[in-house]
Amino acid sequence: MSDQTLDLAAADAAQWNGPRRSEHPTAVVAMAGAGQLAQMCQQAAVSLGVELRVLAGKSIEPAVAAGARALIGDNSGRNLRALAEGAAVLTFDHEGFDPEMLSQLKAEGVHMAPSPEAVLFAQDKLVARQNLSRLGYPLPPFAVAESIEEFDSFADEHGWPMVAKTPRGGYDGGGVFVLDDRDAAVNLLAGNPGTLILEPLLAIRREFAVQAARSVTGEIALYPVVETIQVDAICHEILVPASLPEEVRFLATEITRRLVEEIGATGMVAVEFFLTDDGVLINELALRPHNSGHWTIEGSITSQFEQHLRAVLGWPLGSTQITAPAVATANILGPDNGVDPSTRAAEMIADPGVHLHLYGKEYRPGRKLGHVTVLAGEIGTAREKTRRALATLEGGQG
Ligand SMILES: Nc1ncnc2c1ncn2[C@@H]1O[C@H](COP(=O)(O)OP(=O)(O)OP(=O)(O)O)[C@@H](O)[C@H]1O
Ligand SMILES: [Mg+2]
Repeated sequence: MSDQTLDLAAADAAQWNGPRRSEHPTAVVAMAGAGQLAQMCQQAAVSLGVELRVLAGKSIEPAVAAGARALIGDNSGRNLRALAEGAAVLTFDHEGFDPEMLSQLKAEGVHMAPSPEAVLFAQDKLVARQNLSRLGYPLPPFAVAESIEEFDSFADEHGWPMVAKTPRGGYDGGGVFVLDDRDAAVNLLAGNPGTLILEPLLAIRREFAVQAARSVTGEIALYPVVETIQVDAICHEILVPASLPEEVRFLATEITRRLVEEIGATGMVAVEFFLTDDGVLINELALRPHNSGHWTIEGSITSQFEQHLRAVLGWPLGSTQITAPAVATANILGPDNGVDPSTRAAEMIADPGVHLHLYGKEYRPGRKLGHVTVLAGEIGTAREKTRRALATLEGGQG
């Protein structure tokens, strides 16, 4: 590295939120981002003796509250460079980093998992769609649109309603628009949304996901297929194992295995799928721990967060075996009635089988603030208990 880089790192040292926590970490992992995924990685890092250091936008973010050493600053190359300095590997808890900047850091010798090339499959839905389509993976029909004429020609082929998506920055359904007719498209375009991806509004029979870990050594571990239940494009529940026909589970698992190899992913990967009348289609990929894998904290021998650390460090991968016949996870979304879930923690865990995870985030209606997981002999019981835990948020002001 150049002297200039070292100087910058030294200058940035002033922004660290405190001294190193341990003099003898087993390894140092830099994670760009400090949200709930980094928070849960930090919980796993503590047990492994790993020092996790995170890049946080503010001095209080979930991973920082959980004790990760934090560099406070924006997503600049300078901060990423300082974060990675002295760490075994740089990894990510979200996709919001400029791909050119990541390539530049790689060229400077920063070891990254996943690589900037692999990140492209998760960062930009349009680039991902185009690349996956070129590689022959099963996808929904799609087109790119910037003008109403492009909506019209997609409608000529697929009809209304259709779905328009922003290629970047959307999560929890935030960049997904269901358009009933041409007027709705005109309205959407009036807001200057930029380039959009168009898809038919699919008749989705089921949604499911597969988690995989691929180590920097090339070792791969696959988790059982999970069913995800979305309401208004937001994931509410994860049910494990997915009650899908054996051939569907097999196909999705094989697609995932091939995909992580082919794109050279490293760390945790989640592949979201739709089951439609046209068969199994890929929706999107995440190259990091993912909401659909939170059940693994209690429901698998190795949580996705521990597995991510193992994979990016090139350590042996852990067992992905499920620890109960059935596991249900339900997301805690800020309720509309003003009740802040953090004020109802005790009520939510009244059933002794409920595992509660709160992310320490400020309450807002609809915001994902935590999740609950229940292990049981069969899925109906597990699901019922998660529902009862969430029902304690209903009624009255918090
Ligand atoms: N073409 C489609 N037809 C019908 N429903 C769709 C379509 N595309 C997306 N959806 C619904 O919207 C949900 C969110 O879509 P998508 O995964 O693209 O958005 P997202 O905001 O990136 O989601 P997240 O960050 O929660 O994974 C899907 O899980 C599905 O329920
Ligand atoms: Mg999604």
